[in-house]
Amino acid sequence: MSKIWILTRNLDEKQAEDICNKGLKNCLLENYTPTSIRMGFKELGIDVKTVKLSDVSNFKDMPTMAIDCYPPWSKIETEKLFWLEKQGVMVLNKPKYHSRYHNKWYQAKQLIKSNVTMPYTLEISFPPSIEKINDIEKLIGYPVVVKPTTSGFGIMVFKCHTEDEVFDACLKIFNTKPQLGFTPSSSLIVQKWIDHRFIGIIRIFVIGYKAIMAQQRRPTCETDFFVSNKGLHSIRNSFEITKELSSLCELACRNLNLDFGVIDILHDGDKFLVCEVNPMGNFKSINDDNPTINCGLEIAKYSLFKMKV
Ligand SMILES: Nc1ncnc2c1ncn2[C@@H]1O[C@H](COP(=O)(O)OP(=O)(O)O)[C@@H](O)[C@H]1O
Ligand SMILES: [Mg+2]
Repeated sequence: MSKIWILTRNLDEKQAEDICNKGLKNCLLENYTPTSIRMGFKELGIDVKTVKLSDVSNFKDMPTMAIDCYPPWSKIETEKLFWLEKQGVMVLNKPKYHSRYHNKWYQAKQLIKSNVTMPYTLEISFPPSIEKINDIEKLIGYPVVVKPTTSGFGIMVFKCHTEDEVFDACLKIFNTKPQLGFTPSSSLIVQKWIDHRFIGIIRIFVIGYKAIMAQQRRPTCETDFFVSNKGLHSIRNSFEITKELSSLCELACRNLNLDFGVIDILHDGDKFLVCEVNPMGNFKSINDDNPTINCGLEIAKYSLFKMKV
C-alpha cells in the first residue's frame, strides 16, 4: 500500500507512470508538477500513487499523506480535500489554508495584517457602492488593477484609469465568470497599479517557507499594462534570490500557513511588493530557467520531513 498520494485532476496511476517513464522533457505543462514530484520520490526510493482528486473516495486504504498539485478551483475539489483530511490523511497544502488563500482577498487581508509589503488592496462587490468608489479614489488613486478574487493565468485582470473603467471591468468579470468555472464569489479586488515595467515580475517557488528558485518576467515591448502570465509578451530568465526577497517570501508563506507556494512579486522602483501567492501552482516555467534545481526532489524531501514531525 502506498503511504503517499499525489493528487491530480486528470492523471490516474497508469497514465502518471507512463509519463514518468518518458521523462519530464516530454511532459505537458499540466502534467509537469505531479510528474516531477513523483520522480522526486522515486529518486528517494519511495513508491507513491497518483490519484485523481475526484476518485479519492473510491479507495478503501487511505495514505498517510497526500500532496495536492494544483489550487482548488471548485467547491467539489475543496470538499474532497477536506474529506481526505477527515479520514486522517495529512494533506499538503493543508486544505483550510489551501482553499482560503486561493481567494485573493482573504489572502490580501492576512498579508496586510502580517505586515507583508503589498500594493494597497480593497475588496468590492458588484455593483460597487458609492463608498467603495470613493475609497478607490481616496485610498488608492487611479490607475488601479481590478481582478476577480479567485482567478489565474492573468485572465480578467484589468488596469483601470477611471470609475467607468472599474465598472466595465466588474461587468466583464461577472459576465465571464461562469464560462471560466471560477468558484462563485460575489467580490473582486481593486489594487494599486504598480509600474513594474523595468524589473517586471519576480516569480518565486517556495517550499517550507524557503524560497528555492526565482524567475524574472519582463515585457518584450513598450506596454501600458504588463500582464506577466502571457508567455508571448514576456522575456523570462532566472533571478537571484536576495535576502530581501527570501525574507518577503518566508513572511508571506508563514503567515498564510502554506507548505508550497508560487509568489508573484512586483517592484515599484524602490522596493518589492507581493502581488499574489498561488498555493502550490505550476512551477515548470521557473524550473526551465533554473534547470539545476530538482524541484520534485525538494518537494519529496520536505514532504517526508513533514510526515515525520
Ligand atoms: N497591482 C498590480 N500592479 C501592476 N500589475 C499587476 C498588478 N496586479 C497584477 N498585475 C499584473 O497582472 C498579472 C496577473 O495578476 P495576478 O494578480 O498575478 O493574477 P493571476 O491570478 O491571474 O495570475 C501579474 O503577473 C502582473 O503582471
Ligand atoms: Mg499571478
